[in-house]
This record gives sequence, C-alpha cells and structure tokens, in this order.
Amino acid sequence: MSKAQIAALYRRRAGLYDWSANLYYLLGYREHAYRKRAVAALGLRPGDTVVEIGCGTGLNFALLQQGVGAAGRIIGVDLTDAMLEQAARRVAKRNRSNIELVQSDAAAFEFPTPVDAVISTYALTMVPEYDTVIRNAAQALRPKGRFVVLDLKKPDAAPAWLVRFGAWTAGPFGVSLELADRRPWESIARYFENYTFTELYGGATYIASGEAPRG
Ligand SMILES: C[S@@+](CC[C@H](N)C(=O)[O-])C[C@H]1O[C@@H](n2cnc3c(N)ncnc32)[C@H](O)[C@@H]1O
Repeated sequence: MSKAQIAALYRRRAGLYDWSANLYYLLGYREHAYRKRAVAALGLRPGDTVVEIGCGTGLNFALLQQGVGAAGRIIGVDLTDAMLEQAARRVAKRNRSNIELVQSDAAAFEFPTPVDAVISTYALTMVPEYDTVIRNAAQALRPKGRFVVLDLKKPDAAPAWLVRFGAWTAGPFGVSLELADRRPWESIARYFENYTFTELYGGATYIASGEAPRG
C-alpha cells in the first residue's frame, strides 16, 4: 500500500477511529493497558518534550500529558490530515496549549533537538523507512532519552489460520501480512542502548524500547 493509499484509508476511517479501536476489546485485546505500559516505559518527567510518530487522533495524549505535565511539550506527527483534525478536536476539548500537531510523513519529519522521549504506537510498521525514522530519533534524543514502540507483529508460534484471522481483523487499518517482514525492534536494538523487547497478546503485539547513547 502506497503512502497516498494509507492516507486515503485513514481519511475514511478518521471519524470512527476511536470508536472502532474499542472493538478489539471483544477479542480480549487490552489496548489501553498496552498504551499505558508503553507510555510508562518512556519514563517521562514533568517538563519533558515528547514526540509521537503517527499520533493519529491522539489516543495517547492524555497519558503523555500526565507524564510531561503542563510545563512539558507534546509534538504529534502524522501523515493524514483527517486524523490530525480529530487530534486537534481532542486537544481543543481539553484546552491543551502544550500539544503541537504536525502533518508530515514520518520519514521526512525533522525532529527538534534535543527531545527527551519519542513514542510510536500502532504506526511505525506502516512506514517503509522505519529504520531511518528510528535512526533520526536516536540522533535527536538527549543522552539516555527513551524511544518506545508499541506495535503489531506476526506471532511466531501461532497457527497459520490464526495469523490470517488476526491480519483480517486489522485489515481495515491497512495492516496486512505483507508488513510481516518489517522488524522495527531490530532497528531499535541497533541504534539504542539498554534495548528491551516484550511480547504481548500471544506475540501479536510487542513493546520495544531503548535509550539514546550518551553521545
Ligand atoms: C493505526 S493508526 C495509529 C494511530 C495512533 N498512534 C494510535 O495508537 O491510535 C496509524 C497512524 O499512522 C499514520 N501513518 C501511516 N503512515 C505514516 C507515515 N509515513 N508518516 C506518518 N504517519 C503515518 C496514519 O495516518 C495513522 O494515523
């Protein structure tokens, strides 16, 4: 799927995105708990600047806000205008002045420097140049600044029919088995120190993290 096709798909999905994300609870998928765990792995402190790659409608913003506080800064980056419009509504509703939204392809995004933390949830695997994005983040982060990814992956031990079923359930969001060769966690291990990798939901989801080198 090209980037134009991804943007077109998310333009169609944007209005119902938050609602449809909840449907995965019916499959026992503990989406909010995974988000909480990913944000906790950032180790945010009040006043921090955090970048979210592929922020979508901003489902992580409240958790990020709790971490950085009113003095901190959240920069949400996304390819799709309609997803950012939903994010802007969310920001306005909660009257947040410390959240900036940037429409950009993650591969072309120039990180401000230095940043304290970078996160991406359910988005990075869709970016063909994910390795470049992760390398750029490693260069922009302050020493020991944390990078965390929460995303889907092909579960190694699951039977083929279950893998196909899982891909079908995520298909409306542009996820397909063609993406199974993309392994962002290996790039995190390459560019970061203190790498961690945790599988969730039978290996169909993972959280990977690392710390920027001391320079
Ligand atoms: C499944 S949604 C995830 C949204 C949000 N991170 C969440 O956890 O709910 C994937 C998002 O990635 C964005 N995206 C896909 N390719 C992208 C790219 N190349 N650069 C930036 N954002 C991208 C889409 O527009 C969409 O908003």
